[in-house]
Amino acid sequence: MVVNENEVTLKVENLRAFHTSKKGLVRAVNGVSFKVHRGESVGLFGESGAGKTSIAMAILGMFDDLSRCYSSTAANEETKRLWALRDEARKKGLTSTEFGKDLPGVEGHVWFKGRDLLTLDDKELRKIRGSEITYVPQGTTKSLNPYSNIEEQTAEVLWAHDEDDELEEWQVMKRVLQTLDLVELSDVDLRKGMKPPQFSVGEDQRVLIAMALISLPALMIADEPTTSVDVGLQHRILNAIQIVRNELDLAMLLISNNQGTIASTCDRVGVMTAGHIVEFGDTERVLNKPGHPFTRAFIMSNPSMELIRKIREKGQKIRGIPGKPPDPTQKIMGCPFAERCDFVKDICREKIPDYREVESNYWILCHRYEELPEW
Ligand SMILES: Nc1ncnc2c1ncn2[C@@H]1O[C@H](COP(=O)(O)OP(=O)(O)O)[C@@H](O)[C@H]1O
Ligand code: SF4
Ligand SMILES: [Mg+2]
Repeated sequence: MVVNENEVTLKVENLRAFHTSKKGLVRAVNGVSFKVHRGESVGLFGESGAGKTSIAMAILGMFDDLSRCYSSTAANEETKRLWALRDEARKKGLTSTEFGKDLPGVEGHVWFKGRDLLTLDDKELRKIRGSEITYVPQGTTKSLNPYSNIEEQTAEVLWAHDEDDELEEWQVMKRVLQTLDLVELSDVDLRKGMKPPQFSVGEDQRVLIAMALISLPALMIADEPTTSVDVGLQHRILNAIQIVRNELDLAMLLISNNQGTIASTCDRVGVMTAGHIVEFGDTERVLNKPGHPFTRAFIMSNPSMELIRKIREKGQKIRGIPGKPPDPTQKIMGCPFAERCDFVKDICREKIPDYREVESNYWILCHRYEELPEW
């Protein structure tokens, strides 16, 4: 797709998000930047624990609350102290660098329609969240209310944001039907009065997508929308997402650790490990000719049939990524992939690489990109 720089819907700049835990600060997102344009679908692809969901939570303005709530259940004096310091730093208008200490919570910028979402208060955020920016959560069992029918639940999204009482009942019901139809739920007319237990898992997921769309958002964030469903259903869900994108021209951020999902839905993709985007570019470029050692290893660890054939032809072996991801409670001085990389040199352990645009619209976080062998 041709990217129009004038139509940036979301611009994430140097985003950082740290949780508290009993073991100390969890460095979930370590300075991530990317843009999503109108009508564009951008994927975040990477291993479990890489920080993808934390980015979604940060954009939605939910990171701090979730993280605080989680840490208060495991509360110890140190986590309380760190959050208190964060509050103090905010009051003084200081970042953690200016404050002189790593602190929990979100920092950086999340630009949406000319405003930095990280500077808005709860009331302003609530207006945007669920209407202009919507979220399709992972897994459905917890997300839908089993006691209320899907027509009511989908309509509720619109009512909740109708603060000026502008909507009429018939308008809402019409939109509900149209939207459930858009995600290809069969027999909507008959089934809209049914409750979630009467729907299959894949149908539930499409109801959630409908709920995320009914307000005609500018941006939809979908977090692992096809995990926990079988391959046939994955196809239907992805299909529904594609139809919706074409119809509504919305920007989408799609989070997944599944290469097929990313390949079939995203125009561009950022590959993530250890809280960093290590490679970002056109999906086709990144998945077919990956430039970063992590992307190569990650794709190799779960190869497509075509890749398996190529690997065999070259007499190579399929292998997983050696070793474990770095401990997120430890601050890393160098490259986040250094301990697992076949191409590591001293510089990689000493200095974090710059995130560089090495070709037009193609970014890499690696000291040695230019010296690596062809893929
Ligand atoms: N509420 C939380 N409190 C503490 N640590 C968390 C919390 N949520 C996630 N983490 C940690 O933050 C890191 C990033 O997690 P997450 O954003 O969920 O990654 P992904 O979605 O890529 O799997 C992981 O190390 C994870 O264990
Ligand atoms: S910077 Fe070094 S360790 Fe990191 S991916 Fe590049 S070559 Fe490997
Ligand atoms: Mg996740």
